[in-house]
Amino acid sequence: AFKPLVFSGVQPTGNLHLGNYLGAIRRWVELQASHDCIYCVVDLHAITVWQEPAELERSIREVTAAFIASGIDPKRHIVFNQSRVPEHAELAWVFNCVARMGWLNRMTQFKDKAGKDRENASSGLFVYPNLMAADILVYRATHVPVGEDQKQHLELARDIAAKFNHDYSARIAEKGIGVEIAMGEEVVNGYFPLTEPLIEGPATRVMSLKDGAKKMSKSDPSDLSRINLTDDADAISKKIRKAKTDPDALPSEVAGLAGRPEADNLVGIFAALAGRTKGEVLADFGGRPFSEFKPALADLAVDKLGPIAGEMRRILADPAEIDAVLRDGASRAREIASRTMKDVRSIVGL
Ligand code: ADP
Ligand code: NA
Repeated sequence: AFKPLVFSGVQPTGNLHLGNYLGAIRRWVELQASHDCIYCVVDLHAITVWQEPAELERSIREVTAAFIASGIDPKRHIVFNQSRVPEHAELAWVFNCVARMGWLNRMTQFKDKAGKDRENASSGLFVYPNLMAADILVYRATHVPVGEDQKQHLELARDIAAKFNHDYSARIAEKGIGVEIAMGEEVVNGYFPLTEPLIEGPATRVMSLKDGAKKMSKSDPSDLSRINLTDDADAISKKIRKAKTDPDALPSEVAGLAGRPEADNLVGIFAALAGRTKGEVLADFGGRPFSEFKPALADLAVDKLGPIAGEMRRILADPAEIDAVLRDGASRAREIASRTMKDVRSIVGL
């Protein structure tokens, strides 16, 4: 079997928000206790759309600071930025030749991000999921903790791994570098694991505070739609106070959240921040109006996020130290990635 290994990444594209924290980073922190973990600032993904160089550089450091401030330990685990390990791009090229156009044509994130003007989207944006598969598989990672929006891309990574394993099975077996993998009833010898997504808990899809139908996102033009990790107590309280809700009191059971996306979202955020289930939160707040729930949520959010923002500011005051963390992480990541690429070249015949 493959050695359990966790990989995940965040793009350095502007404001990190509560969705990134609850859907991803917070889980990453927990997984450190049970797994070897590799956490990446995915800067090659960022440039699939235009980035100002100075802003990109600042953002790479800011995301790194957020990882460390949230409790990721770059000494025991690996933290680095993607562009410093060229094997990601090299394996992505191989995967460009494994993945089928039809598979990529089904990716909903490309449709969302490219919008109506598909002819003018970069080709990088189209093949983005192949690079994401390479990010994961260059370490032969077995588990990827992400938010729900990444589920389809993870499935594509599994499809790529399965096709690669299938197409090159004879070479993999001949070289004796394969691992036995159960695929349905069958056990095959493959080089890449079929990586499992880890998507669980009450906040795998945090929605915009202004529109319960849209996910909270870095690219939403309305700052009131999201809580940024760098927001101070006043900003957090104000955004929660102004969050869209309906006029009814909170229900006392989870079933009562059906058809109430804004209420469901705020209860989910509360549950995730408190480390409780939505049912437990509603046992306390059922029957009470939002005018009572919102201040409690604001206090909790300030309590949980305030220390992270403070720690981020402290870390960001020393950019040379952040750069040193990234350099060290890249050199350790590269040791693993270069072994994989050596195998892949020989499997493919290069
Ligand atoms: P964004 O979508 O804001 O640009 P990224 O693409 O860099 O963020 O995603 C980083 C991580 O944060 C991914 O694991 C993604 O699934 C997660 N994530 C992003 N937005 C949300 C959200 N609204 N709710 C839960 N998880 C999210
Ligand atoms: Na995303």
